[in-house]
Amino acid sequence: MPPTLATQRLTLVPLGQEHLADYTALIAQPAVHRYLSSAKAIAADPPGQAQRIIELAQAQWRERGYGPFAVFATDTGAFVGRGGLFWVERLQAVEINYMLEPAAWGTGYATELSRRFLEFGFDALGLERMVATTNPDNAASQRVLLKVGMRPDGQRDFGTHMVDFFFIDRADWLAAGGA
Ligand SMILES: CC(C)(COP(=O)(O)OP(=O)(O)OC[C@H]1O[C@@H](n2cnc3c(N)ncnc32)[C@H](O)[C@@H]1OP(=O)(O)O)[C@@H](O)C(=O)NCCC(=O)NCCS
Repeated sequence: MPPTLATQRLTLVPLGQEHLADYTALIAQPAVHRYLSSAKAIAADPPGQAQRIIELAQAQWRERGYGPFAVFATDTGAFVGRGGLFWVERLQAVEINYMLEPAAWGTGYATELSRRFLEFGFDALGLERMVATTNPDNAASQRVLLKVGMRPDGQRDFGTHMVDFFFIDRADWLAAGGA
């Protein structure tokens, strides 16, 4: 049974079909998809891309026991975004990622979520390493990763584009005090 997680202000539910409308409205916004490698595909067909990701999310939860969550503000119940853990085949690693409603930016939510993802990955799943990638121009996302203790390690070539690469090992996380 996939877990529901909580942070101080947020409730996280495995991303599923019931989130299609909220998730479509989220990714359709240019401010949200501008730094994503799939930006053009999303702009051309937000519902189709949202459905594709939900199906991938469900497969990840089924096959690996982790995946992306739909994220809600606990006090109001409002949908505020998506984030979680994702297996990235070409990196052979578990990536953390997040995307939030612009109205919720600057509130520390991405940082709060990322800390919870690291705790989930290291504590509950027993992972040894987690990684993250960002568009080289996505300064807000890079700042979040640095704040939660991830280390920058140059760039990776994803064929069609370059990404900035970050990682954190269990030992780094424990040395920083864990959760
Ligand atoms: C990336 C994203 C999740 C950040 O969300 P957020 O709720 O604003 O994040 P937080 O409030 O936890 O932290 C953001 C940090 O970046 C900083 N920041 C914001 N915009 C910045 C910019 N343009 N340049 C440098 N730093 C910036 C903030 O000041 C804050 O750091 P601080 O706490 O030291 O002041 C949000 O911008 C988003 O959803 N973007 C669209 C999707 C996306 O790009 N996802 C990441 C894909 S890799």
